[in-house]
Amino acid sequence: MELTDAIVRDLIDRAAGMLAKSYVPYSKFSVGAALIARDGRIYTGCNIENASFTPTICAERTAFFKAVSEGVTEFEAIAIVGGYDRKIGDICPPCGVCRQVMMEFCDPDTFRIILSDSLGNTVIRTLKELLPMGFGPEHL
Ligand code: THU
Repeated sequence: MELTDAIVRDLIDRAAGMLAKSYVPYSKFSVGAALIARDGRIYTGCNIENASFTPTICAERTAFFKAVSEGVTEFEAIAIVGGYDRKIGDICPPCGVCRQVMMEFCDPDTFRIILSDSLGNTVIRTLKELLPMGFGPEHL
């Protein structure tokens, strides 16, 4: 699938729309994600925190697990935005745990991670660029 400018824009807008849904009573830092599958379906996610802290799940993994739990396991790209006050702030790169989850389901050479800030500056990187020499299913 060709990742056109219109698709990139739509994914960023959907990720931004998820900031309102984030459950962030502790950090107050909202993250939204929009994941597009190979078949074009889009799964959104937000971060969901917990009083016990460690059960907190990131926006990216919420999106992935929604998709996988619906039987979808092949993906093209994910847009991620984050910030305080439920607004986009600076670029919000995915945490290491989320990069590892991406490694399980995505081709590191072609899966794209789209990051955008409040000024509309957008950075697009492959998973391999953000997780060089990552450990994946083929290494078992
Ligand atoms: N967070 C995400 O949702 N995604 C990331 O990749 C980085 C961190 C969330 C977790 C926590 O709710 C908040 O941001 C502050 O760490």
